[in-house]
Amino acid sequence: MIHYFEHTTSTNDLARGADYRHMDVVWAGSQSAGRGQRGHKWHSIEGENLTFSVVLEPHFLPIVEQFMLSEVVALALVDTLRNYGLEARIKWTNDIYVGDYKIAGVLIEQMLATDHIARTIVGIGLNIQQTDFPDDLPNPTSMRLEGAEGCSPREVLEAFMLNLERWYSRLVDGDKDAISQRYNSLLYHRDEPHTYAYASGERFEATIRRVQPTGHLVVEHADGTISAYAFKEIEFCLPQKRRR
Ligand code: BTN
Repeated sequence: MIHYFEHTTSTNDLARGADYRHMDVVWAGSQSAGRGQRGHKWHSIEGENLTFSVVLEPHFLPIVEQFMLSEVVALALVDTLRNYGLEARIKWTNDIYVGDYKIAGVLIEQMLATDHIARTIVGIGLNIQQTDFPDDLPNPTSMRLEGAEGCSPREVLEAFMLNLERWYSRLVDGDKDAISQRYNSLLYHRDEPHTYAYASGERFEATIRRVQPTGHLVVEHADGTISAYAFKEIEFCLPQKRRR
């Protein structure tokens, strides 16, 4: 069920309420403390985009396989954009890009029991109508800027939930290899040499080969050595770009 609020602090916080259960959606027109990954704020103009959180209760999923949830969510976002004629890719771990521009971000927060995942809050910011963005955002875009005009946020949200339910059912059915294969086939910068940076800031050239089921990014370095990196161990080095 979709629960709409005109305003809240962060839908990820609101969705923690015990009344919200599996596949419930907490959607807000605006957030005063929208959170992004790596401690960033999530910026969104009131009413123009989608800012919402979905509650999942994946009790069947071993904790070591929690990255499968990121994959399922990213695939549902890519399919939703495709429903509107947009070809998107997944920038590891789960930013959604159209070309070199970020159109959606995902913040997944897990509540773990001793041996299983008790609850997962999937927070999503998807830019729909916004065309002006703050200068400090490196490369934002929106469905409208990419040519999908006049989309209603509610309609897009409903399309996303159908796609999420479909991918999630495949996870429940144990179709894990197919999910990971599809996720890998949509990876941004896969099999192309690019510049990355370690957490220390030191840069290096490498080629993304795949993402492991644990969520580690496997890259081939310029000298041919292969390494697997966890989230936050390396970053993409992307130039600042504006969609105009
Ligand atoms: C990112 O940094 O790319 C992740 C952004 C996630 C933003 C969404 S907006 C709805 C939900 N509530 C939050 O506070 N954050 C997420």
